[in-house]
This record gives sequence, structure tokens and C-alpha cells, in this order.
Amino acid sequence: MKGLVIWFVQLLVSVSFLSTSLADTFDDRLSHHLDFAKKSLLANISPEDALPGAVIASPSRSNPDYYYHWVRDASLVMQVILDLYAEETDYLLQQMYLQYLRDFTHVTRIQQLNSGFQGYGEPKYYVDGRAYEGPWGRPQNDGPALRASVLIRFFNILKQNGEMPDSELIQAIEQDLEFTQQNWANPSFDLWEEVKGDHFYTRMTQRKALLDGEKWAKDMQNNHLLQVCAEQIPAVEVSLEGFKDYSKRNIYVTLNRVGGLDYKHSQLDIANVLAILHSYNGDDYYSPSSFWVFNSAMDLEQSFRQLYPINEQYPHLGTAIGRYPEDKYYGGNPWFLTTLALAEYYYKLAVEMHDRTFVEKADKTLERVLFHAGPDGSMAEQMNLYTGFMESARDLTWSYASFITAMRARKLAKQHNF
Ligand code: NOJ
Ligand code: NOJ
Repeated sequence: MKGLVIWFVQLLVSVSFLSTSLADTFDDRLSHHLDFAKKSLLANISPEDALPGAVIASPSRSNPDYYYHWVRDASLVMQVILDLYAEETDYLLQQMYLQYLRDFTHVTRIQQLNSGFQGYGEPKYYVDGRAYEGPWGRPQNDGPALRASVLIRFFNILKQNGEMPDSELIQAIEQDLEFTQQNWANPSFDLWEEVKGDHFYTRMTQRKALLDGEKWAKDMQNNHLLQVCAEQIPAVEVSLEGFKDYSKRNIYVTLNRVGGLDYKHSQLDIANVLAILHSYNGDDYYSPSSFWVFNSAMDLEQSFRQLYPINEQYPHLGTAIGRYPEDKYYGGNPWFLTTLALAEYYYKLAVEMHDRTFVEKADKTLERVLFHAGPDGSMAEQMNLYTGFMESARDLTWSYASFITAMRARKLAKQHNF
């Protein structure tokens, strides 16, 4: 009898366990995925065979080989490390995050010295710090600009902590700013490494770098840099005005194409939304809710909604988003980081517009991401447009970085009582 009672109690306990795990709320699932994203992002920094501070784009070494340090991906990842540092209360973990930044600074200096000033637009490096020498879309001038901004943010944190930033960090920042102020008007390859010309995304990163640089140079009493940054910013803004498409009432992705792919006719590209997520300066200049940015995001979502079969198959989920409608890479699939970008955009829009319907839209977009991610939370670069299964590089560092920043935007949006 006693055995039967124990058996019955055990049965009850396991049934109730089962039902709570089945009834895991959306918030529970998100927080599980967030933990996984953080762990996976950290696993791709300083892997054993790399220089400390090198960030691999993915552990995948073939089909595709992403075992390199891309300047763009790495800079975006280091912004996330700074966010994690800022949220952290444990002293030892804080120190670990700062060490990643110190190592990243050191790797940056090695890369700068290995490529020479004119080569700062080099997009990717071996994990031992040498520049990749195979054929590639180069230069990519968003890299030094994104890197200048993240290194300046790191510099400011060290100073706040009462630490004296070392000369390596100062040199790395000066060099990236100098390169950006001298080269912003020159054509370069876009963030997708395909089209050579002038890009809204790249130019927004350059504007942000020069604005950050202006403040930093003032603080450093570096009059030369202060003057050149201050001089170039208005010129960069004049050029950014030229990206407004008055007939379509949205933003051109590329102007003055001089090389690379020539079939991006729609001029729709999530790059224009990423530009705002990565480089909005909080000064009302191309803000998330601005007419131009909003229209660009809406046109893009509508186009992808119709383009991908998985959007029709699972219409209760938010829209899976790709890079641009004409994309052919791996068959032109939706990507995780681009879908997450739309979610993050909606959370930021909700805050600016005081409108919670955008929080709901963003949550549905995250539902889509969870639906196609692995059950453990793993995220590759892409999801197949017909089946939704993951494709291309596994455990893409930038996918995890995007999940973390989207979740951060969600937290901020949820703090508002609309
Ligand atoms: C590799 C690039 O990283 C990717 O963005 C591009 O689509 C393909 N090459 C094809 O050019
Ligand atoms: C291809 C993407 O198009 C590019 O933006 C990225 O930097 C590399 N993959 C590495 O993730």
C-alpha cells in the first residue's frame, strides 16, 4: 500500500512537471534562449587556436568557411559585450568582459599594422591577425567606423572606472577615425560584401563614428582630430540627404554603384533598418519613427511577407525577413539576424511612438525566430525559405548578438506603460 502511495505521488509530481514545462510561457522560452545566446556568443570569442580577442563569425570551417574575424561582426559583438558589462553586477564577470575588450583592442592594433593604413577597410582576418589575402569584396569601410565607435565607448568606460586607457587603445581609435574622415566619400563594398558604391548603412556608421570621434577628440584635446571630425560631419549629412527617395518615400540602399552585383532593383534592404539599429545617435536624425525609416521598414516587411513560402505557411507568426528581395546567396533565404532586426526595430518604434501594438508585432517576430531556431536555442545564419530549417553557417555569432540586442530593446519597451 505504502509503495502504491509513493508511486501515485511520484506520478502526480511528474505529471505536474510535464504540464509546467509544456505550459512554459513565452517569457520563459525567451529567457532560456537568451541564456543560450549569451553562452554561444562568448564561445565564439577567443577560441583556442586564435589570438585572444579574435571573434569568429561562426565555428563553421566549410560550406561556408566562416572561421575568420570579420571587422563588422566583431565590432557589433563587442558592443554586446559592453552591454553585458553594463548590466552585470558580479565583479569577476565584469572583469571578464573588460578583458575581452582589452584583447579585442590588441587584436585591432595587430590587424591595423598588418594591413597598413590604406588597408583598414579590409573586411576579414585570419584568427592569428593576418589579413585574408584571397579575392574578396574590399574595401568595406563600415568596419573601421563601427570599430571606432565601440572602442570609444570602451575608452569612456575605462575612464569612468578611474583607469588610464593605454596608448594602444588611443592609437587604435585615432587610426580608425583618421581613416574614416579621409575615406567616407569613397565607394566601398556594402555590409553584404556584394555591391561597390555609396551605401546608406556604411554612411550612417561613418556619421556616428565622426560624432563619437568629435566628442572624444575634444576630451583628449586632440585638436587636429576635433577639427577634421567637426568639418566632415556636415558633409556626411549632406550626402545622407541624397539617400531619400522622394518618389517611393523611402531610403535608397545604394547610390553611385561602381561595381559588384547589379540586380538589386527594388532598393529594398534590411541594411537600412540595421543602419538605424547600429548607428542612430539619439538626435532625431533618421530616428526609428522618422517618416523615411518607417516607410523603408514597412515596404521591406511587405515585400518579404509575400516572397517567402514559410511566411504563408505559418501566418500566425511574425514575418521572416531576409537581406533584400533579389538575394541569391544560398538560394535567397530569410536570416535570423535580419528577422531579429525587425523585432528590435518594432520595440524601439513602440517606445518612440508610445504604441504598444508595435510591442505585439515585435513579440510575434520573436515567436517566428524561436519557431525556426533549434530547440536548445541554436541559430545558424539562415532558415530555408520553403522548409524553415536552418541553413548556412551554424551558430552565427551575429545571430546571437542580434538576439541579445532585440531582447534588450524588448526589456526597455516593456518598462513603459503605454
Ligand atoms: C560571401 C558574402 O559574405 C556574402 O554576403 C555574399 O552574399 C556571398 N559571398 C556571395 O557574393
Ligand atoms: C556574410 C554577410 O553578408 C556579412 O555581412 C558578414 O559580415 C559575413 N557573412 C560574416 O558573418
